[in-house]
Amino acid sequence: MNTTILGIETSCDETAVAIIHNEDILAEAVYTQKIHSRYGGVIPEFASRDHIRKLYPMVKDIFSSALVKPDDLDGVAVSSYPGLPGALLVGYSFAKGLTFAADVPLVKVNHLEGHLFAAKFSGAEPPFIALLVSGGHTEIIFVREWGVYEILGTTRDDAAGEAFDKIAQILGLPYPGGPQIQKLAEGGNPDAIKFPRAMMKSNDYDFSFSGLKTAAINLLYDWGAEKVRNNIGDICASFQEAVVDSLLNKLSRAVKEFEVDEIVIVGGVAANERLRQKAYEIFKDVKIPPKKYCTDNGAMIAFAGKFHLERGETEFTEFSFYRKS
Ligand code: KG4
Ligand code: ZN
Repeated sequence: MNTTILGIETSCDETAVAIIHNEDILAEAVYTQKIHSRYGGVIPEFASRDHIRKLYPMVKDIFSSALVKPDDLDGVAVSSYPGLPGALLVGYSFAKGLTFAADVPLVKVNHLEGHLFAAKFSGAEPPFIALLVSGGHTEIIFVREWGVYEILGTTRDDAAGEAFDKIAQILGLPYPGGPQIQKLAEGGNPDAIKFPRAMMKSNDYDFSFSGLKTAAINLLYDWGAEKVRNNIGDICASFQEAVVDSLLNKLSRAVKEFEVDEIVIVGGVAANERLRQKAYEIFKDVKIPPKKYCTDNGAMIAFAGKFHLERGETEFTEFSFYRKS
């Protein structure tokens, strides 16, 4: 079966598109919105408006570089949940119109399933244990096969990316905070400040980052602006280390219990250098996609869409995960 699909991603602050043909990416483009950087977080209304501005010219561009016409498509895959409603609606409406004109199916893709499909760019195939770490989600998922997902653990409060973003905001750094903290951490000592690692001994695969966030905020207030400025590298390195340790501790626990050979880390936070380095040290077989496929991209949505389209699943596919009892 030959399949050509356009993938569209507009769930948050990336406008991302890709055209794939079977297992190949013919063309792709990502635009990361800059408008949010000064606000410390994504402003939903601005995100939607920026997607409206960018999506059409970007799709036009990749059609011409892929040498594909709308009529050549077998379907259009669009990230449809979870995400910012207004931002999702831009991608969805565009995709719906295009499928109507080209008379091909629309495949609604769960954004998290899209992140899981980015595992393909690391060479991984199910079964595997995935640590999915993004701005809104932190989950350990047992991917038994494509389409069969068992959520083993999740965050009880903030997501890992959200923790990076919130601390960066308090430090006065631009959004998104993760890359900023990583950069400042390069000059710092990860052992300088003993930030808490929550739930390390709990007998589950859940995470909690709100205690770490509060500890960091309290320290920043205690120290005051000047001391914080003078120790910014140590603060960022220690904070980053606490997040990385918390994530990898629970991932190790899951890997031991499930005795799965393949381990994968996906989602925006998987672009973090320290997380990647420590994961490669701890697990000899961990697979992590190239950084551009960790953060939001169109290709992951196209591949997830291709999977469902080839199975005839063009209606909304609830992400059929369940918690292990
Ligand atoms: O997957 P993603 O692009 O969008 C969501 O689905 O949320 O992830 C975005 C998140 C943001 O919280 C951002 O701060 C974080 O990923 N992130 C990083 C790094 N690059 C992106 N966090 C830590 N280190 C990085 N290098
Ligand atoms: Zn994402």
